[in-house]
Amino acid sequence: MTIADTISQAKSAFCRHFEADPVYGAAAPGRVNLIGGHVDYNDGLVLPLAINRYTVILGTTNDTLKGRIFSSHCNEMFELDLNGPVREATSSWKNYVSGVVFGFVERGIDLAGFDAVIHSAVPVGGGLSSSAALEVALATFLESTSGNQIDKVEKALLCRRAENEFAGVPCGIMDQFASVFGEVDCLVKLDCQSQHVELIEWPGDDVTVLVVDCRSPHQLVDGAYAERRTQAAKALEKLGEQSYRDVTLKQLESKQSVLSPVEFRRARHIVTEIDRAGRCAASIRDADWKTAGRLLGESHDSLRNDYQVSCTELDLLVEIAQEIGVEGGVFGARMTGGGFGGCVILLVSAEKSASISKSVLAQYFTGTGINASTFTTRPARGAFNFLVDDAST
Ligand code: GLA
Repeated sequence: MTIADTISQAKSAFCRHFEADPVYGAAAPGRVNLIGGHVDYNDGLVLPLAINRYTVILGTTNDTLKGRIFSSHCNEMFELDLNGPVREATSSWKNYVSGVVFGFVERGIDLAGFDAVIHSAVPVGGGLSSSAALEVALATFLESTSGNQIDKVEKALLCRRAENEFAGVPCGIMDQFASVFGEVDCLVKLDCQSQHVELIEWPGDDVTVLVVDCRSPHQLVDGAYAERRTQAAKALEKLGEQSYRDVTLKQLESKQSVLSPVEFRRARHIVTEIDRAGRCAASIRDADWKTAGRLLGESHDSLRNDYQVSCTELDLLVEIAQEIGVEGGVFGARMTGGGFGGCVILLVSAEKSASISKSVLAQYFTGTGINASTFTTRPARGAFNFLVDDAST
């Protein structure tokens, strides 16, 4: 599925629902995180990349004070008052929309009424940040219709707030930053303490990312994610520190007795993962795929054993990948995203990716009876807007 396909499907949906041609367009990608799992809300370093799957919003302005937006995924229309968007009682895609509109209203930006469709190629519920793609696509669309460009950091934070406060999902800042800042062939190295972004070029064409969806749905709203956040914060407080960036493994080990066993494990994951993410960024800069792959494996072990956010399906996929090994073209693998289901990423030799994918799918089916799905991606372009007539993007 190319971005052009997604735009063309969105265009048909718009014409069908509004009996007019769309004028403004915006697209925002989902993401995978190469390394730095569950450290974005712990002042850590993360290394996501935008993927070649986009959420597209197309539309026109209208002369009312209402936004009318149709979701092709939910086959549902939502009409909202642009002066005072409110949170819906139920968990719904509409809350993401209201939250983003609220962010514009709060900044005093005059929004014209609009008619729009949302059409997405980012799988929902697979841990690829379909919600961040929706928020960022909408913010980018509203930038066009209002003629107001927002600073990129501010835009990512506005979208994250929509997710936290309107959708009620207590996520960190990574997904929205990846969707906003992604660039072709670049990893987004994000320092979540300073919110500084550095782009790291993906060296050469030999290695690519294979994404495998284990097809066991994840649930972020579920208490486990929030519970990890609380445990991590509690451990930091007991360590008497302001930030995990000030804690070394040595210090942590020397203070083990002040923490409960669970808190100690959570903190150990965070401290070691921040270190791994920094080293992984350096090894990718040097095109040292073996070291990068090894760090991915260590990250998975730590997420499974210390942070306890993996599940049997993800573990099995990582095991299968590790058995194929460097000889077979797999440099490393780990779960990505929030966990408890969702996707695993493999760093693989580009020329062997098709055969690796086949072998992983077959072995996984033998082990679980589940048909997983895969796609390959290189780091893709972050959010952008366009005029629909020029949409040969
Ligand atoms: C989810 C959240 C992110 C991040 C990851 C774990 O994807 O939305 O903010 O915390 O989990 O790394």
